[in-house]
Amino acid sequence: MNLDELYRETILDHNQTPRNRRELENPTKTVGLLNPTCGDQIKLDLQLDHGKVTDVGFTGDGCSISMASASMMTEAIKGKSIEEALDLARHFKAFLTGTPSPVELGDLEALQGVSQFPSRVKCATLAHNALEKALMESEPTDR
Ligand code: FES
Repeated sequence: MNLDELYRETILDHNQTPRNRRELENPTKTVGLLNPTCGDQIKLDLQLDHGKVTDVGFTGDGCSISMASASMMTEAIKGKSIEEALDLARHFKAFLTGTPSPVELGDLEALQGVSQFPSRVKCATLAHNALEKALMESEPTDR
């Protein structure tokens, strides 16, 4: 299996078995975000405790890229500090414009091919934009 095939398999796997696709019962922070180019939406629930993301869930409807990216992102940030989660979102977005990431992106690396399709970059970054919005708005007491 070459790298392209591996990446395709990874994206397919997250589509077929999305991780953390659920609402949290009592989230610390909830953010909804719309992709204005297509009207698809995502809702992200975060549980924050002592400056860490202790749980995360997402719901919404979108294309396979947006949903796979959300699934990968939720896996990558669980247990991370708020700053680390923000760093991941920022570096992933830069990665999609061709900048190598200094932080481990995990399965998100499988989305690197999206960088060749500028119209799909908004799909791949929808969940990450929601994450940034949620964390930037989080209360100082959550940090
Ligand atoms: Fe709507 Fe991708 S086409 S999020």
